[in-house]
Amino acid sequence: MRKVPRKPIDVEKIRKDFPIFNQKIKGMPYIYLDNAATSQRPNQVIKAMNDYYQMYNATIHRALYELGEKATDAYEESREKVAKFINASPEEVIFVRNTTEAINLVAYSWGRSNIKEGDKILLTVMEHHSNIIPWQLLAKEKKAHLEFIDIYDNGLLKMDEFEKFIGEGIRFMSLVHVSNVLGTVNPVKKMVDYAHKNGVLVLIDAAQSAPHMPVDVHDIGCDFLAFSGHKMLGPTGIGVLYGKRELLENMGPFLGGGDMIKEVHLREASWNEIPWKFEAGTPNIAGAIGLGAAVDYLNNIGMENVKEHEKELTKYALDKMMRIKGINIYGTKNVELRGGVISFNLGDMHPHDLASILDNEGISIRAGHHCAQPLMDRLGVVGTARASFYIYNTEWEIDYLVNSLEKVREVFKV
Ligand SMILES: Cc1ncc(COP(=O)(O)O)c(C=O)c1O
Repeated sequence: MRKVPRKPIDVEKIRKDFPIFNQKIKGMPYIYLDNAATSQRPNQVIKAMNDYYQMYNATIHRALYELGEKATDAYEESREKVAKFINASPEEVIFVRNTTEAINLVAYSWGRSNIKEGDKILLTVMEHHSNIIPWQLLAKEKKAHLEFIDIYDNGLLKMDEFEKFIGEGIRFMSLVHVSNVLGTVNPVKKMVDYAHKNGVLVLIDAAQSAPHMPVDVHDIGCDFLAFSGHKMLGPTGIGVLYGKRELLENMGPFLGGGDMIKEVHLREASWNEIPWKFEAGTPNIAGAIGLGAAVDYLNNIGMENVKEHEKELTKYALDKMMRIKGINIYGTKNVELRGGVISFNLGDMHPHDLASILDNEGISIRAGHHCAQPLMDRLGVVGTARASFYIYNTEWEIDYLVNSLEKVREVFKV
């Protein structure tokens, strides 16, 4: 991928684009540190969606009038923008609701016709539930087996286990690019390469990577890749499944209905071309248009700059947080190997209590199992608190978080 020169992000300018930061919460500028759950949206995304609803609202693909054509063009232009964003072809980009639906689509359409009794599917212990449950359902139905790559205590994957599993007849692998709990950035390019040499297809869950760093599907070499619009400044209800053209062409449909067909008779039908074969029914037109605007916004900043900004914030936060007495921070401390997600516990305080106290200080963080209960089991905790960063976060906000944590520690005698 072309190396783009780094320029610092103008956070103050960026924050002005986000109306949510114009208000005070608990009398304070709003400190939003739950970006791994969902991001905020800039005016540009909100306006793109409003423009659709106010000026050219119509259904797409079959409307033979001006506004219908305009809506179709905007929807398909967004697909082109998303395709370019991940270095794919537009036919390989399927609009779905979110990462969860993208993974279910593959487990259903590819999995049900390719996984057979006794086959093994390889996952990792750091997966989000959305990359576990679809495979559990498939494995149960097909009498297949799930295998899991473990982690070291520093949150990195055990690569020797990965190689051992691949050598033992794995049929398919699905793994997260960046962990939503540990922040670990998995070496997906290397892993895909090794898997392919052994005939194993790979799906990458890019829910926490596509919003935060350059993601190039050709460079990674993966067969499928999934991500959600709402975690990357876009609206909720729109997400993306990338699939290699030849795989998508050979897969059966996921949902049946309008738009995904070529010809329908009473007792049989034929399917539309990709990507529409996988987009049954009236799609989330406004959502796709909003996602296109989000991609424009991120491209204006530059994904390399987004990544560097978060790396600097993460380093700053780790340096300060590690000095808090009684804190336990999960995952590697090497910012080259982790994204802008910091999970922690303070003494034996329940993370929910911690999050509620911080909420009183005007700080939104996440607490709980983060839809990764098997990882919580592996870490031996019921849950963690989690701060996660994005383009509009600042060092001042991290200082405020750290001061608040120090106050909590003193009051609760941690
Ligand atoms: C790593 C990872 N995968 C998948 C998901 C599921 O995303 P969605 O709920 O948008 O489908 C999330 C959401 O937090 C995530 O962090």
